[in-house]
Amino acid sequence: MIRTKILGLGSYVPERVVTNEELAYLDDQHVRQETVQTETTDEWIQKRTGIKERRYVPNDGQWATSDLALHAAKRALTDANIEPTEIDCIIFGTLSPDFHFPGTAVVLQKKLGIAEKTSCACFDIRQQCSGFVYGLQMADAFIRTGMYKRILLIGAELHSHSLDYTTRGRDVMVLFGDGAGAMILGPVESDDQRSGVMYTSAHADGNGAMDLYLKIFDISRRPYVDYNPKDRETNKDMYPQMDGKRVFLNAVRGMVMSTQSALAKTGLSWDDIQWFVPHQANLRINEKVVEVAKIPAEKVLNTIQFYGNTTAATVPLTIDHWRQQGKVKKGDRILASVFGSGFTWGAAIFTL
Ligand code: COA
Repeated sequence: MIRTKILGLGSYVPERVVTNEELAYLDDQHVRQETVQTETTDEWIQKRTGIKERRYVPNDGQWATSDLALHAAKRALTDANIEPTEIDCIIFGTLSPDFHFPGTAVVLQKKLGIAEKTSCACFDIRQQCSGFVYGLQMADAFIRTGMYKRILLIGAELHSHSLDYTTRGRDVMVLFGDGAGAMILGPVESDDQRSGVMYTSAHADGNGAMDLYLKIFDISRRPYVDYNPKDRETNKDMYPQMDGKRVFLNAVRGMVMSTQSALAKTGLSWDDIQWFVPHQANLRINEKVVEVAKIPAEKVLNTIQFYGNTTAATVPLTIDHWRQQGKVKKGDRILASVFGSGFTWGAAIFTL
């Protein structure tokens, strides 16, 4: 029986570390100013979100989401010991694509130097913070049906260029960071039901669509977005909008439900799983999920303290971070649970 194996893993975060303290001084180009631009404090951010710092790309006009993805992809390819030309499918999850169209997967294909050589399939998927689990479900189905043999699954985000660096936007702005994570997936013959990708689930509730959104492009309107350099209020739609409390409650519910179903449907218990990797939106969300779903605290991996919320990248980035620290090892079984804008949510169980 063909099953999906994880052949390689890689991640990338930019070098620039932005602390909570520095965040208050950034202007709308995320350049540090002498005076406070946003009324916020390290204490508030840490207490409400657990975040201490995040990474931003340099503000030199040279960086796009596909560049973060390229670094992560190269590391995953090296880890899998395969050549870029062996990739026959790219699945790219992002809410911060390089352009409105075409999708970022084709840009990455070109940057990997394989556009002329492979003509591989390129998918962009739009499930925000749930993108990685949705993409894993797609990749698993493609591989088990024999459709593709070497899939590059990417979650990458460049948030720092589209945040509202003012007191008005502080509830959202403090949460997000830039980063990318990648996996290479391929087929393996095995009758072991517990090997490779064991389980995936993906869910959505469009009733929550306007609880977390960015309408920088709204096709029902012309022009798509208003802009007035003299009036910041007019430019509100250029920035993400969020009902933080509704997102918080639904995130806890979605992640608890999907985690419990993953265990019930596979018959696994926490004795069979080495690590729980929740989406990294807010440390308080994750602590609540762990408490309600009765997850052993020593099995929980978080990175939000160092990277903030990197949306589609959080799961592979967190796994790779803790692998580099020597905590996560090859052969470990992981339960990942995610929730994002849409609302979308889901879970996956896989062996590294
Ligand atoms: N710094 C300082 N004060 C801030 C602030 C910031 N960055 N952001 C908001 N505040 C203020 C508010 O203006 C409010 O002030 P007021 O009481 O004078 O009106 C006060 O803090 C409390 O705001 P509130 O929105 O009630 O706080 P909260 O406890 O709900 O926390 C979030 C806000 C955003 C941290 C929280 O709702 C959250 O994390 N939600 C989920 C967000 C998320 O995960 N999004 C991504 C999902 S994938």
